[in-house]
Amino acid sequence: MSEITLDLRGVEKSRAYAELDGHVRAVLEGVDDPVTAMATVSCLVHHAFGHLWTGFYRVVGPGLLRVGPYQGTLGCLEIPFGKGVCGTAAKEKRAVIVADVSTFPGHISCDGRSRSEIVLPVKDRNGTLVGVFDVDSDRVGAFDEADEAGLVQILHWFAGR
Ligand code: SME
Repeated sequence: MSEITLDLRGVEKSRAYAELDGHVRAVLEGVDDPVTAMATVSCLVHHAFGHLWTGFYRVVGPGLLRVGPYQGTLGCLEIPFGKGVCGTAAKEKRAVIVADVSTFPGHISCDGRSRSEIVLPVKDRNGTLVGVFDVDSDRVGAFDEADEAGLVQILHWFAGR
């Protein structure tokens, strides 16, 4: 049962995320490998909603993000803290929702079809920032507080919760 990719398009967001979180945890049962978890979360979130780009940037040095597991077209390889939406979320250690990427100063365009974006910090069990999770949509205004709440819940996996 757990070895499937759910399609949750059209399902109300809070219900979709609750189902997805349960599914992620079932698939990752017994797993203690953050790279495996990043790949699995990217795949399941991406296909559940039919997003444009879904994946992780990892903290690999002081003030530097490098691309990790993802689904979608080619992502840029490195993003300094403070640059673009991902770098802003990493620097400020907070979720950033951009309803229209054309209005975000310094937005880094990896896929020209991207219209809106949500980026969340990812912390480990010590509360240390280990990366960010980035989801891009080809629709303006695709993300809101329901996405933030649902994704925060899923990303708790990396904090051991
Ligand atoms: N748009 C992001 C860059 C990463 S890609 O979209 C995959 C940003 O502005 O940080």
